[in-house]
Amino acid sequence: MNIGILVYSYTGNTLSVAEKIRVQILTNGDQAQIHRITCINGEPNGQKPMVLKDIPDVSEYDKLIIGAPINGFSVCKALKIYFESSEINASQVNCFVTQHFKRAIFGGNRGIKQISKLVSKQGAIVTNTAIIHWSSKDRDTQIDNSAQLLSRF
Ligand SMILES: Cc1cc2nc3c(=O)[nH]c(=O)nc-3n(C[C@H](O)[C@H](O)[C@H](O)COP(=O)(O)O)c2cc1C
Repeated sequence: MNIGILVYSYTGNTLSVAEKIRVQILTNGDQAQIHRITCINGEPNGQKPMVLKDIPDVSEYDKLIIGAPINGFSVCKALKIYFESSEINASQVNCFVTQHFKRAIFGGNRGIKQISKLVSKQGAIVTNTAIIHWSSKDRDTQIDNSAQLLSRF
């Protein structure tokens, strides 16, 4: 199985989780590539209009993992902009968000719902989801568990 990992990360947290998921996929005996969305004016609170720079085409993947940070109790703007102009072709999606706070009510739950809505509009089904709480003392365990869960469809 060849799995695509579509990720946006501003300060690197979400990308580091994506890399651990990729390692787990390879350990499982499957293939995986990370595709990064990047932005011009990517500061989450920036005043200038955010414009996508790298807009990865992930339409070749039937199984896709999507990862994004939470900004202002919502999934990051870059992912929303990506879905305004890009089509995925996956039938199944696993997704995760990273957030600072230890409780999912501070953006994580909403972010997962938002990603699920974006992909379901394109006909994909969300199977497994995870929230990584960056300030939690259990962060490493959360990442390991998420890698196990999200690497399988
Ligand atoms: C402008 C801004 C807004 C944020 N809003 C939230 C939030 O609402 N809830 C939360 O738990 N973390 C929030 N965070 C923290 C990020 O979600 C967290 O640090 C995330 O892991 C960053 O991922 P990245 O390094 O991949 O960009 C915010 C960070 C920034 C910079």
